[in-house]
Amino acid sequence: MADALKIGVAGLGTVGAALVRILQQRSNALTLACGRAIVVKAVSARDKAKDRGIDISGMQWFSDPVDMAENADIDVFVELVGGSEGTADLSVRAALGRGLHVVTANKALLARCGVELAKLAEEKGLLLNYEAAVAGGIPVIKTLRESLTGNNFSRIYGIMNGTCNYILTKMEKEGLSFADCLKEAQRLGYAEADPAFDIEGNDTAHKLSILTTLAFGSEIAADKIYLEGITNISIEDIHAAADLGYRIKLLGVAQKTDSGIEQRVHPTMVPLDSVIAQVDGVTNAVALESDILGELLMVGPGAGGNATASAVLGDITDIAKSRPGAQDVPVLGRPAHLLEPYRQAEMQSHEGGYFIRLTVQDRTGVFASIATKMAENNISLESIVQHSKQPMVAGKPQTIILVTHATMEIAVRKAVDAIKHEGYLVGEPQMIRIERPKS
Ligand code: HSE
Repeated sequence: MADALKIGVAGLGTVGAALVRILQQRSNALTLACGRAIVVKAVSARDKAKDRGIDISGMQWFSDPVDMAENADIDVFVELVGGSEGTADLSVRAALGRGLHVVTANKALLARCGVELAKLAEEKGLLLNYEAAVAGGIPVIKTLRESLTGNNFSRIYGIMNGTCNYILTKMEKEGLSFADCLKEAQRLGYAEADPAFDIEGNDTAHKLSILTTLAFGSEIAADKIYLEGITNISIEDIHAAADLGYRIKLLGVAQKTDSGIEQRVHPTMVPLDSVIAQVDGVTNAVALESDILGELLMVGPGAGGNATASAVLGDITDIAKSRPGAQDVPVLGRPAHLLEPYRQAEMQSHEGGYFIRLTVQDRTGVFASIATKMAENNISLESIVQHSKQPMVAGKPQTIILVTHATMEIAVRKAVDAIKHEGYLVGEPQMIRIERPKS
């Protein structure tokens, strides 16, 4: 039997502790599957004494992950520290520099400097595996990187943040407040260390930027993503969406257009009868649309210790199995030096349907004025309704909801600006884009 694969795990939080536990509990089965043992030789975290429910007594302890990357007796450096800069970045570079394979779950790091790290790994013939970085336990990286080579992708989209999907689901189904749902997601170990990354959409953007590169062969461009989080979504929006036959999901969408690649993350209305509308709670879903295969929809656990550890484990066992030529699988789907520059499609030219919720003063002519502003911008309306769950009280502000047929973003923005100048709006208008899944 081949020598054991020696790994070092940096970061013993929810995912790191789950990974070490699984490696210990499943050691015999993993040895049989890989033809060699996988041994955790070293670990690194902030607090050695903390009880994590795992036995780390036989392992070398490092308080500094960079020190571990530079000095531990290991073959594979597993980075579960998180964060786009600092320790995570330095330790991954140190590990690659020293000739260690790297496994990471760090989407923020890859979104910032994934191309550079891929070049580093490829120059040295090392593996840089990152299945857990996108959509938790769903094997979407391997699917795009290896299984679907040769397909031309037209659109990829999905629910890629478990925390946001959990919040939106709980708000709708249990009537809980945004803050309570977020607290619960944090308690369950779904949220980022700073949950603003979840609810403001950055985490989804990081993940989307990686998938865009794998699907479209362009350099990672996380800073070119149009970004809106879910903090402005109210329970009124969720109910109005349901009344109109839609559900609100935070989607990441990358789409090929004539003017380039559109990358956007925003709350999105999807038809209630679509598959993605049924994806609830912490579950993620990624849809890949391509010319040879057609549509592939992958659904599975998107966050949490075990789901993420399962993906990290898959990456480690890939290295342990050492498929001949495994290091020839390009980190980002094609050799990093052959990635094309990212050609950005402007958000203003995005085309799609829109849900617009306006709170207006109750006065004659408002309906007509709104319809006129839409028509002046060539926007065709699917519906316009006065919408209220409360009994109408004369003189009190009223809610008007519009759903448009496919139109340009710039036209909607101009129409809404024109409406703002009419003087009957109360508060800010709400605008949610509609996406039409194939299934
Ligand atoms: N905070 C992330 C989420 C963890 O909620 O999806 C998984 O990347």
